[in-house]
Amino acid sequence: MTHLTTDIFLASLADGVSTLLARDSQNSDWVSFNCVFPIRKYTLKKAATAAYQQVCAPYHTWAVRTAVSAGMCTLPTRDQLLLNPNETYMVVTHKKFKSLEASTIDDTNEGYENAFEILHYPTITATNLGMLPIKDNLVFKRMFKMPDQSIPKDAAYQIINDELMLDGNPRLNLASFVTTWMEPECDKLIMSSINKNYVDMDMYPVTTELQNRCVNMIAHLFHAPVGEHDTAIGVGTVGSSEAIMLAGLAFKRKWQENRKSQGKTYHNPNIVIGSNMQVCWEKFARYFDVDLKVVNLKEDYYVMDPVKAVEMVDENTICVAATLGSTMTGEFEDVKLLNELLLNKNKETGWNTPIHVDAASGGFIAPFIYPDLEWDFRLPLVKSINASGHKYGLVYAGVGWVVWRTKEDLPDELIFHINYLGSDQPTFTLNFSKGSSQIIAQYYQFIRLGFEGYENVMKNCNENARLLKEGLEKTGRFNIISKDIGVPLLAFSLKDSSRYTVFDISESLRRFGWVVPAYTMPPDVQHISVLRVVIREDFSHSLADRLIANIVRVVNEMDAAKSTDNAINTRDGEASEDSKKEVKLGISKYWRRFVHAMADQAEQYIYQRFPYLRLDDTPSSSSGSDSDPSESSTAASQAEAPPPAPAPEPAPMPSPPRAPAWDGLRRMRGQARKMTGLPPRRQMAPIDEPDTIHEVGESSHQAELRAQVHQISQDLQALRQDVSQHHTLLEDTRTTVLEILTSHLTLME
Ligand SMILES: Cc1ncc(COP(=O)(O)O)c(C=O)c1O
Repeated sequence: MTHLTTDIFLASLADGVSTLLARDSQNSDWVSFNCVFPIRKYTLKKAATAAYQQVCAPYHTWAVRTAVSAGMCTLPTRDQLLLNPNETYMVVTHKKFKSLEASTIDDTNEGYENAFEILHYPTITATNLGMLPIKDNLVFKRMFKMPDQSIPKDAAYQIINDELMLDGNPRLNLASFVTTWMEPECDKLIMSSINKNYVDMDMYPVTTELQNRCVNMIAHLFHAPVGEHDTAIGVGTVGSSEAIMLAGLAFKRKWQENRKSQGKTYHNPNIVIGSNMQVCWEKFARYFDVDLKVVNLKEDYYVMDPVKAVEMVDENTICVAATLGSTMTGEFEDVKLLNELLLNKNKETGWNTPIHVDAASGGFIAPFIYPDLEWDFRLPLVKSINASGHKYGLVYAGVGWVVWRTKEDLPDELIFHINYLGSDQPTFTLNFSKGSSQIIAQYYQFIRLGFEGYENVMKNCNENARLLKEGLEKTGRFNIISKDIGVPLLAFSLKDSSRYTVFDISESLRRFGWVVPAYTMPPDVQHISVLRVVIREDFSHSLADRLIANIVRVVNEMDAAKSTDNAINTRDGEASEDSKKEVKLGISKYWRRFVHAMADQAEQYIYQRFPYLRLDDTPSSSSGSDSDPSESSTAASQAEAPPPAPAPEPAPMPSPPRAPAWDGLRRMRGQARKMTGLPPRRQMAPIDEPDTIHEVGESSHQAELRAQVHQISQDLQALRQDVSQHHTLLEDTRTTVLEILTSHLTLME
């Protein structure tokens, strides 16, 4: 019954919350309990009260109803819930909203309330409501509408700037290959060209010229067979992804032309590629209807195996894509071997399968520090190469390059010519308009650093990678997966992940500000999970030392935490008992306040029913006893069933346990009269005084007293029964409230 009531209560509570939210969000699905938090107006008290009134209130007496209603006041407030738990995500989110409120909108603003769209979770049921981990489920977003009115520019700046403070620090983002630092002179150039649309080539011929110079420099760097006075074939893009789309389209078109000319079908093109491919290849395949024939990785060989790749090539293969700098481990694939094997296969089959090199990150590394490594246009089957200018090209996000070996490798039909901007303009990009700044910044880096500068930067990155590797190896806990020759990054797995995982380490490192991603490797080595640290130009020697120190600290802390856990676990489950105790302590804190509130109500009730009783602790002139009802009826109660025993404070729980109301009464007596605004204390002389029967030898005063005592004892008997009934009801309510509080504590955890 209790359980049933609890379930219904919780269901109603959920419904209450949902209804409250529905008022704003027009949606009455179940919602995650913690979704309520961001909205100041909605409190747990409101939802719980609504639910209680629907479910339990009709069955409860006035005293219980009032007590419960008082108890509702003891439920934690929104602010307590948000600020008590040491839950960083919550706190951060709360702060975020606080700053938003402070800077923009006050609580009374209707737009503010409507602005929150609470995401609904259809899977949440009444019973698991509130039990969900906060982090995974605290998902809400601000649904923005354009404001009706303008605001001052400095206010707009402040609002956005304040909110952006919550973004991470790009320099500590070790997940990304993309440049996060450039010289201030280059920043100036970027700012001064921020208003130039690159596509207006006639308007900005110098910018176009700078792009062409960059293409030429890159083509030379990659050993394209371009004569001294020739123009290299290539284009600046938004990044390697766009570059890969363009290269892929060129291969597809060439293959189709070839097949058509041979009178063969041309509908099932495919690309052979390693499972370590970057996601842009999957995008290309899906967007442009090309199959991917994936070469899976194997233990201790985390890049595409050229032998397997060539085996997979068939007559529909438009190209084999090799990666110079695997996204997962930074390792360079063996393009030279691939070229040799493919040359042989082409000779045998008569096919002319080409190679594309995805040198997104390796393209600006290999030429400078591995000049003898043959991976580029020195190999005859390499027809196109892409590289990210915004990675080791050392430019801020927004620039990539694709270069073709010769003019013949880029089908003419893919080049569009427009003249409405003033002159004939060939374009071969997916996008039309784009900024010029990144192209200009790339040119700045090429002429500023020159070969020497790039070489120095890459060597420095390599040196920092080596230091980091040494530091990690010294800890004795990691296997280094990345290779010395490759992109300067460290990919490492845990030697022993039985106690904690790389994901735990990644999570813990965030508290120092580091973003070190952890991920599982692609097929067929998914069982390996690694952490990856990308070493960029702005990652210094001292940052490497600091990172190692932080990794060591995190790992040591986790070791210590695990060994404490183990020690506790060996005490036959005492560990969980301890944590349960902590939870109970939290619950009892709220519960005590609830009981106190109920005690007030119970006292008020007793006053009304038994007006001749004195509950005040002011010394009595007539009885001479203390105001505790149990004490004032001692004589009678000795003859009858014993009433709740008096307990001086602080007192251990008497046995048998008594109704909480009595405990509360004792503690709170004296305050009761003032707090409840009850009529002045009455004397023992009752309004409905019992008839007095004289016993032999008894004075009339004695007889009167005896009759009064008798009456009191009878009243107390009735009261005890009443209290016991209420106690059951209170227990019911208590269980319910406890469940709510337990949910809360779980939430807080
Ligand atoms: C191997 C590889 N190819 C392509 C890309 C996509 O590059 P972008 O971000 O420049 O579009 C990446 C990005 O990390 C990459 O590592």
